[in-house]
Amino acid sequence: MKVFCLLFFLWGSVLQAKVVVSEMDLLKAVHAPVLMQRQGLGVAQVSPAQESLLIQEAHKKRRCGGFTALDLSAAGAQSFSARVKSSAMKFFSQLSSLKKKEQRYLLHRSSFQASFLNKQPQPKIQQAIKKLKVQEIQNWVEWFSAFPSRYHRLPTANDPIKALKKRLEALASTVSYPVRVDLITHQNTPQMSLRVHIEGSTRPSEIVVLGGHVDSINMWQGPSGRAPGADDNASGSAVLLETLRVLLSQGQPQRSVEFFWYAAEEVGLVGSKEIAQQYRSQGKDVVAVLQLDMTLHPGAGENVIANVGDYTSAWLRDYLVELNQLYVGAELIEEKCGYACSDHASWYMQGFPTVMPFESDKRGMNRRIHSSKDVINAQSSFMHALSFAKLALSYAMDLSNSLRRQPY
Ligand code: BES
Ligand code: ZN
Repeated sequence: MKVFCLLFFLWGSVLQAKVVVSEMDLLKAVHAPVLMQRQGLGVAQVSPAQESLLIQEAHKKRRCGGFTALDLSAAGAQSFSARVKSSAMKFFSQLSSLKKKEQRYLLHRSSFQASFLNKQPQPKIQQAIKKLKVQEIQNWVEWFSAFPSRYHRLPTANDPIKALKKRLEALASTVSYPVRVDLITHQNTPQMSLRVHIEGSTRPSEIVVLGGHVDSINMWQGPSGRAPGADDNASGSAVLLETLRVLLSQGQPQRSVEFFWYAAEEVGLVGSKEIAQQYRSQGKDVVAVLQLDMTLHPGAGENVIANVGDYTSAWLRDYLVELNQLYVGAELIEEKCGYACSDHASWYMQGFPTVMPFESDKRGMNRRIHSSKDVINAQSSFMHALSFAKLALSYAMDLSNSLRRQPY
């Protein structure tokens, strides 16, 4: 049995087979033998071919990727099946304890809300919002999507990251308080992530995070296919840059603020997972994480924004509703991904509070992502993207200059 497990493991690692958690119907559709079943989800080992099929099946059902890869490395030197079991159990128990916390909040919602809601708009934030420029967002989306591909394994995968670093250093040098720009290297991808750290003046150890992924993918033509990723996710990356430009003009915040452009999200949230794990093990005090992934395609109508309801924190979703009322005036709707669909899930699984405004409902979602057709087109709306910048800027300014934090 042990020899069999060893062979199975070696075969798996050579072929880069992944152990994934996904919905039972998807696993059945790709004929992946289910190793375990919990909370309506199954655990299975999938080959690269099954992984692509899984993605295609999920696409058919409008669920996009539809799986979460399990990290077996944390399970130590046990047999393959013991490692699968222990990491799956860890995943399910983490998820259910986080869900229980959310339920407790929902039970006592109104008494908790008093501790983090504002009620009144702040003139300083209203003034700052007026400085956001739609043209800047457009310029950045054009800049990112002009790279033929930002796929994480290409020899050119770090070109946009290095070029962006230079632009950000120039921007950082225009302010008189401490702002650092860092490249972050990873274990599981040659692509680097990029971080801008704005040092807080009075509570520097408390960190307000904003982020989005910088990589792109062509799931149909492989690594050599064009992957402009204009919506997914030049648009989120661009909104972060415009938010940062205006935030820096507002003086030093009290708490630290960090902006991330994550590597290799499209192949399993690789960059953000390593970063969130590291922040957790270093005991960093991350107050909140806002994720921007796809902001350009108003699939449910202009100015209709989804407040993603899974792998996010209930108090931050309520907080986003309030920021929207006070500063943006979009129509916020509730929608779920159904799985760990973007980098916010990496932070959420490490116990950090998260929120994710998203461009559309599932019905209207952009069908061109992950292909050479994800370009700026007639449906693209930079005004729609601007609403995300308003949300992001009000979130960054309000949270970094207050004591607000998760009340549970
Ligand atoms: N931007 C997508 C996620 C997305 C797509 C959310 C459509 C909602 C609607 C993201 O970049 C992505 O593709 N994520 C992967 C995650 C997977 C590799 C863990 C996905 O969904 O396939
Ligand atoms: Zn994607």
